[in-house]
Amino acid sequence: MERLETGVYGLDELLAGGLPKGRMILVSGACGTGKSIFSMQFIYKGALDYDEPGVFVTFDEMPEKIRQDMLQFGWNIKELEEQEKMAIIDATSARAGTPSEEENAILPGQFDLDRIIVEILSVARKINAKRIVIDSVPAMAFRLENANEIRRAVLKIAYMVARSGMTAIITSEVEEQSLSSGQSIKFSKYEVEEYVADGVIMLNFLGVGSQATRTMYIRKMRGTKHSLEIHPLEITDKGMEIRKIEEVFG
Ligand SMILES: Nc1ncnc2c1ncn2[C@@H]1O[C@H](COP(=O)(O)OP(=O)(O)OP(=O)(O)O)[C@@H](O)[C@H]1O
Ligand SMILES: [Mg+2]
Repeated sequence: MERLETGVYGLDELLAGGLPKGRMILVSGACGTGKSIFSMQFIYKGALDYDEPGVFVTFDEMPEKIRQDMLQFGWNIKELEEQEKMAIIDATSARAGTPSEEENAILPGQFDLDRIIVEILSVARKINAKRIVIDSVPAMAFRLENANEIRRAVLKIAYMVARSGMTAIITSEVEEQSLSSGQSIKFSKYEVEEYVADGVIMLNFLGVGSQATRTMYIRKMRGTKHSLEIHPLEITDKGMEIRKIEEVFG
């Protein structure tokens, strides 16, 4: 199986070289665990270091804020956009029902998954994208009322990814949960995302306050021999890095 470097430092070696190419991976966790940074690093490093253009579809955060926030890691997103190595599609304004000032945007009143997919594929074709991110499934599905509609929406995204040959990350949310509580763990908001996805990466906090450690573990990755450990995760001024437990506590 061909693999795609994630661009997240320290992660690829835990994944036998990277994500399986052409597959859809779920990155899930509570708020603030780093799902958006993880996904943006996949797109940004993919474009910069691996010459693989990528599309970042944002339903949660406005593109201008993302560009600004990512500057703290030294990532000049605007530059890569100008070189057509990456593109951000703004789905936040359409969600709010207001027009967007972005070059790539879903129009207000067109917040419909089929139209969104058409827009994604058209932008992807324009920059010859190999990578795509949907951030996030709950924000994309916010209008959908029942489990069936949501399941169908997630499946549609999965089919789009499969047909396009791109490698995808979708993000979802779960409540903060304790890995050791003995209660059954949730992997995503709607509990369908993890079944449709070929891989699941969970981001977490261990402990609270200043003693808290960010963690990451790979819950599944089809076709891949992967690490089963819980790994410390750090967000530094260069971006996200996965560590080994013995490096941090050893
Ligand atoms: N330069 C930095 N150094 C350390 N930590 C940072 C830095 N920048 C952001 N963070 C941390 O990353 C978090 C935001 O990460 P991100 O937006 O990727 O989370 P998320 O899981 O997508 O959250 P949400 O569910 O709200 O969308 C911040 O809350 C902060 O804790
Ligand atoms: Mg986010």
